[in-house]
Amino acid sequence: MSATTATTTSALSWPAGLKRFIAREIETNGGRHDEAEIYAAPAGDVGLAGGPGSISWEINGDLASLIVGGTAAILMEVLHPSVMDGVYTQSSYRTDPLRRARNTLGYVLRTTFGSTRAATAVIERVKAVHAGVSGVAPTGATYRALDPELIGWVHTCIPWAVMTAFDRTKRPLSIDEKDRYLREQALIGRMGGAERVPESVAELNDYVERMRPQMAMTYQTVDFLGFLEGRVDQLQPIGRKERFDRWVAVRASMGLMPEWARRMTGTYQPDLIYRAFFAPLDRLKARLVRSAYPAPPCVAMAHQRAGAIAFSAPSSIS
Ligand code: HEM
Repeated sequence: MSATTATTTSALSWPAGLKRFIAREIETNGGRHDEAEIYAAPAGDVGLAGGPGSISWEINGDLASLIVGGTAAILMEVLHPSVMDGVYTQSSYRTDPLRRARNTLGYVLRTTFGSTRAATAVIERVKAVHAGVSGVAPTGATYRALDPELIGWVHTCIPWAVMTAFDRTKRPLSIDEKDRYLREQALIGRMGGAERVPESVAELNDYVERMRPQMAMTYQTVDFLGFLEGRVDQLQPIGRKERFDRWVAVRASMGLMPEWARRMTGTYQPDLIYRAFFAPLDRLKARLVRSAYPAPPCVAMAHQRAGAIAFSAPSSIS
């Protein structure tokens, strides 16, 4: 998107009722993320990801990019059959999908905007959860979640998808900015148990090519995709319109990812259709989120803590 288009589109205003509805949906599904003990103190602490002025604070502070990129990140993570097996057999995603969504978003926000102590604590807590996750994937591979290679893959999919969403829907990022973002986020991946994670776009491209032969759709991935699209294992019946919306949202988000991944997951759309329909949809969704709920409260809290000038986060949604 050109700078001119970005300026023009961000100047559009949406009806207040629509913005309130979206803000409520975001808080209901994703949580509020305003815990004082995590984000408010100690004064001057910039946390793990670089603090004010860092590219991590700019990108991960843009809730729209986290939302638009989130589905693609999750689907890319579970394209690794061992990750898929862990999630499929040992996670509560079917029975408590909202808790899973909040915890995953919370992890990204806490590790980037939380105090050093709170960010380290959440990483250690999640590592302890992972220590109990192991099994045998449908491919026959024995795995444990704390395998540094698996942690590295799951870690990488998150900044990869979020940075691509930011680049496509907010403003184009230079290679240098992408390199800095991957480097800042790599520390979090290593603290989570990965050994080597890509720290530049060049390393990311090599890494993805190296990992690609391990990716596959198993019956579990097919089910999981069906769950995301509202077709399989729903707690309550989902109407046709909602199923269609989810089908579209999955394809729009996966449009951020390489063609091989879209083909493998069956979410491929010809470029022309992607450019004419799905990409504008990602941008529209991002604009709506930015207008209704630009950043969770923790972003302003973290700026205040670190001593920078806070920008306003939305007040409590009623
Ligand atoms: C850096 C990499 C990873 C991150 C950031 C991550 C993130 C998370 C988070 C935030 C939770 C929720 C913990 C809670 O609050 O209860 C979780 C749970 C879980 N993770 Fe991971 N994860 C990673 C890697 C993996 C891998 C490699 C596997 C599987 C091989 C895996 C499987 C699971 C499972 C099965 C749960 C339990 C979920 C539940 O109770 O519903 N994770 N992970």
